[in-house]
Amino acid sequence: MVNLSVNLSGLTLSNPIIPASGCFGYGKEFSEYYDINILGSFCMKGTTKEPRFGNETPRIAESSSGMLNSVGLQNPGIEHVVQQELKEIRAYYSKPVIANISGFSVEEYEYCVRRLRGIDNVGLIEVNISCPNVEQGGMSFGTDPEMAAKVTKAVVKVADKPVYVKLTPNVTDITEIAKACESEGASGICAINTLSAMRIDIKKQKPVLANITGGLSGPAVFPVALRMVYQLYKEIKIPIIGIGGISKVEDVIEMMMAGATAVQIGSLNLVDPYICKTIINQLPGMLEQLGIDDINKIVGAAHR
Ligand SMILES: Cc1cc2nc3c(=O)[nH]c(=O)nc-3n(C[C@H](O)[C@H](O)[C@H](O)COP(=O)(O)O)c2cc1C
Repeated sequence: MVNLSVNLSGLTLSNPIIPASGCFGYGKEFSEYYDINILGSFCMKGTTKEPRFGNETPRIAESSSGMLNSVGLQNPGIEHVVQQELKEIRAYYSKPVIANISGFSVEEYEYCVRRLRGIDNVGLIEVNISCPNVEQGGMSFGTDPEMAAKVTKAVVKVADKPVYVKLTPNVTDITEIAKACESEGASGICAINTLSAMRIDIKKQKPVLANITGGLSGPAVFPVALRMVYQLYKEIKIPIIGIGGISKVEDVIEMMMAGATAVQIGSLNLVDPYICKTIINQLPGMLEQLGIDDINKIVGAAHR
């Protein structure tokens, strides 16, 4: 028997496969396709303090081996998530979930994380710092080590669960941002979010997305995400959740060999709703073929 179980700062997952934020809703629709209790965990859609309608449509565009989205954090707000979604989840998912939090000010992040205190089916908090900081001219929290440190410090202080900070790839040196988060008490790092991108409709001679730019995700970004996880593993000691373009079991293994303790799968759920189930079923056989009896042994293997 191959051991698939991994540990994220005290939270034990039966396997390292986690659907990513924004690509799995609150899991309900997917639970109608298969028993989602087989997942290591799943990450809920990003939540802000107030409900958000998101950006104007069109907010999805296709691309070779990927997709662009400019959804703009549409969500029902933290109060609804706490009062309704997190309660309803218990009916179809019996393990702890990952709560993804977004904010446009340090206070907003802090408020949402504080609101999640004492909720036992939240196992881990993922803090998405790709949002613009409205208090300081709209620059993303995740592109400046000082701002990233400030958010991390504020949320770690009020959180009663491990805090993992989710980083944007739209920076020159992602390790600088990760080190700033680690130094302020982050328990782990999630990398990566989407890459800034755009498409143009040649008949209309206009950008496809109403927002003009959006975030690229899917298999096209896998080698970029892999490179960043590899760089992060060299520079930080806290665990990494590898995200970006994973579409098959071999990608999971590559991502873990680069340094990820667990992985998240986003866009592929929109192409194939069974993708996480398929990968979980294929993992033991794939590891056996490689002569590996414990998945933890491959974490960071490419560095040794
Ligand atoms: C439609 C869509 C919505 C997303 N919403 C969020 C979100 O609310 N919060 C977040 O941190 N990331 C969000 N993401 C980013 C994903 O969680 C993931 O980091 C990214 O898509 C890269 O992984 P992938 O290539 O497997 O999709 C979203 C991605 C997509 C495609």
